[in-house]
Amino acid sequence: MNVLILGSGGREHALAWKIAQSPLLTTLFIGPGNAGTRPLGTNLAVSVTDFNQIKQAVLDNNIQMVIVGPEASLVMGIHDFFANDEALRDVTVIGPGAIGAQLEGSKKYAKEFLQRHSIPTAAYQSFSPEEIGEAKAFLKELEPPYVLKADGLAAGKGVLILDDIKKAEDELESMLLDAKFGQASSTVVIEEFLSGVELSCFVLTDGENYKLLPFAKDYKRIGEGDTGLNTGGMGAISPVPFNDTLFKQKIIDRIVEPTIKGLRQEKIPYTGFIFIGLIKVGSEPYVIEYNVRLGDPETEVILPRIQSDLLESFVAIAEGRFDNKPLEINADYAITIIAVSGGYPEAYEKGKPISGLQDLDSQALFHAGTREENGHIFTNGGRVLAIRGQGNTMEKALEQGYSNLKCLQYEGMYYRKDIGFDL
Ligand SMILES: Nc1ncnc2c1ncn2[C@@H]1O[C@H](COP(=O)(O)OP(=O)(O)O)[C@@H](O)[C@H]1O
Ligand SMILES: [Mg+2]
Repeated sequence: MNVLILGSGGREHALAWKIAQSPLLTTLFIGPGNAGTRPLGTNLAVSVTDFNQIKQAVLDNNIQMVIVGPEASLVMGIHDFFANDEALRDVTVIGPGAIGAQLEGSKKYAKEFLQRHSIPTAAYQSFSPEEIGEAKAFLKELEPPYVLKADGLAAGKGVLILDDIKKAEDELESMLLDAKFGQASSTVVIEEFLSGVELSCFVLTDGENYKLLPFAKDYKRIGEGDTGLNTGGMGAISPVPFNDTLFKQKIIDRIVEPTIKGLRQEKIPYTGFIFIGLIKVGSEPYVIEYNVRLGDPETEVILPRIQSDLLESFVAIAEGRFDNKPLEINADYAITIIAVSGGYPEAYEKGKPISGLQDLDSQALFHAGTREENGHIFTNGGRVLAIRGQGNTMEKALEQGYSNLKCLQYEGMYYRKDIGFDL
C-alpha cells in the first residue's frame, strides 16, 4: 500500500522510519517532509493545510492512506474533506474528523467533554468577551497562581500562568478584549492551578477499541532545570520512572477508558491518536489537556519502543477489525535530545550547514527542521535535530544520546544538557 505522512518535523521522521519497516508498505511519501525523511521515501512539496494540493498528490501517486501529523490539518477538517470527496472517499485517514479534533481545537469543548464523563481535571469556567465582569469575579474566587487559556489553537503559546491577580486581570482583558491570541482567545478558559509532575499518555483508537502506546515525558522549557521560555519541546524520555503500575492503572480506569467510552456514547467518529496530557497530583492523575495527534518530541521516544507493526494497526482500523489486543512494547529506555537554532524559541536564523551527520549511524537521530540542497544538509527551523539514545537502562540511553550529540555541529547549536537527569 502507498502511504502519505503529512508533516515535516521530528515526529514525522520518526513515523516515516517506523512505517518504512512495515512489510505492508509499497511506497512511502512524506509531505512536505525534511532532509531526514528523504532516504525513506519521496518528499512531496505540499502544505499540510492546502487540502486541494494534498488531494492532487494523493491521486497522482495512488496513495491509499494518509497519516496526519499536525493538529492544524485535523482541526481544519482534513478527515471530513477526504470522506466527503468522491475521489478520496476510499483513502484511509489516520486522524479524527473535525468534531473529534475539537478535543484539541477548543479547550472549552475538551473541558465540557471531560466534565460530561466525570474524568478528573482542574475545576474551570469559560468566558466570552461579554462576560469579562464574571471572568474577573471568577478569578477572585481562585487562589494564585492563575491559569488562563486561550480556547483555540495557539501553537503552544496560548496558556498563561500568573502569580499576581492584577496581572491576571490585565492578561485576561488583553486575551478577551484585544484578541491577544487572535480568534483563539475570543473564548478564555480559567482553571484551578494543579501542582504536580506531568506525563503524557498516548492511545490509538478506532473510536471503539484502543491500544496504549508507551508513556512519555517531555521537557518544555528552553533552559536547564526547566527554566526560561516555553518551547515546542527540548527532549523526551520513555518510559516515565514515576509512572508505576498502580498509577498507570488509575490512568487507564479513570481517564483512558472513560475517554474512549465517551467518544462511543457521543457517537464521535475517531480514527487516530489521542494524546492525553496528564499531571500527577499527590498520587492521583488529572487531565491537563487532550491533543488529537502524536506529540513532538514524544513520538521520537515512543515509536522506537513499539515492536508491533503500526501500519498493520492502521490497516486494521481501515478494515474495521481493530481490537483491544495490546501492542508489543520493548523494555528499553529511549530518550531524545532536541538540538535547536541559536535564539529559539524567539527569533533565530535558518540555513546553517550541519556537520557531522555522516559520522553517525542513520539510526542515531531524527531530523526535525532540516533541508537538503546538493547533498548538503542545512538547518531549516527552530528545532533542528532530535538526537536519540536507547538502551536497557536510562543511564545507557542517556550516555548514547549525549555521545551521539557530540558528533554534530552547526552555528548557534544549543541543547539542554539535563534531559532525563532529574529522574
Ligand atoms: N490547571 C493547570 N494547573 C497547572 N498547570 C497547568 C494547568 N493547565 C496547564 N498547565 C501548564 O501549562 C502547560 C500548557 O497547558 P496545556 O493545556 O497543555 O496547553 P497547550 O499545550 O495547548 O499550550 C501544561 O503543560 C502545564 O505545564
Ligand atoms: Mg500541552
